[in-house]
Formats: sequence, structure tokens, C-alpha cells
Amino acid sequence: MERSLVLVKPDGVQRSLLGEVISRLERRGLRLAGAKFMQVSKALAEEHYAIHKGKPFYDGLIAYITSAPVMAMVWEGPNVVAAIRQTMGATHPLEAAPGSIRHDFALEVGRNITHASDSPENGEQEAALWFKQDELISWSRDADRWIFEK
Ligand code: RTP
Ligand code: MG
Repeated sequence: MERSLVLVKPDGVQRSLLGEVISRLERRGLRLAGAKFMQVSKALAEEHYAIHKGKPFYDGLIAYITSAPVMAMVWEGPNVVAAIRQTMGATHPLEAAPGSIRHDFALEVGRNITHASDSPENGEQEAALWFKQDELISWSRDADRWIFEK
């Protein structure tokens, strides 16, 4: 099953939007595989955002993600990466579709509440970066057959 790493970033946690984000992903029908509330180290932040190193917003991004606790989660389901990015909305909140999390709760790109993996390959890679193997649960949910066609 395809996986995506989701982070509720420090602004989402500080603004008490943790339940809102989880609730939207649950209601969408996605299945949780792992979750932990954690303070992100500088080393983990730098590895996670390595692709953005050298960009003008990089230092601010590392400061932002390490500024307070985050909720890290792995969600799974068919086409989970595309589904979650749709639920989150575009990176810039002013470009995010109405009804998406970033549209409904954010104004600025540097305070956009969530992270979600941008490809199935990165979903696997990021899940492995943030979670040990035994922290991710393989399980079958009773409702799966009513949500997943296959
Ligand atoms: P994310 O990785 O957080 O899910 O967001 P994304 O794929 O939609 O955006 P990405 O291009 O990967 O950027 C990662 C995060 O960096 C911050 N950012 N700031 N000031 C800027 O122009 C700028 N561009 C990106 C955002 O917090 C973005 O989510
Ligand atoms: Mg990204």
C-alpha cells in the first residue's frame, strides 16, 4: 500500500489544529500506520529538507520546523500521496483550493501547517527517515473493504 509522511508542523500544533488535520485524513478514508509527537532535531530537519538546501527560504524553514514539537505520521491508502496533497492544498496558502487545510487555516507559505510527501518514492523514503520499522504498523481495518476498492 502506498504511504505518505505527514507532519503537522509547529504552527499547526501551537494552533491546536492537530485534531483537525488527523480528522480530515481519517474522514478521507486513509489508514494510519504510525504516529509520534516529537521535537525535531536540527540534524533530522536538515536531512528531511536536504533538497531545499541553498534556497533563500532554507534557513527559515529549518528554524520553523525545529521551533516547537511536530506530529509525525505515516498514512496509507490507494494514491495516498496525491490524495493527501489535495487535502493539504497548494504550498502557498493563497493558491490552495477552497476547502483544503492550507486554504482554510493558513495565510503564509512559511506557516503552512503541514508537510506531506510529494511522490510515492519519497513517501517510502521519508517514512523510513522518520520512523523505525517497528514503529509502523501493518494492519487491516474493518472498514478497508468499504473504502478501498481492491
Ligand atoms: P511540504 O514539503 O512542506 O509538504 O510542502 P510542499 O511540498 O508543498 O513545498 P516544498 O516546495 O517542498 O517546500 C517545503 C516547505 O518550505 C516552505 N517554503 N517556503 N518562502 C518560500 O518561498 C517557500 N517555499 C517553500 C514551505 O513551508 C513548504 O511547505
Ligand atoms: Mg515538499
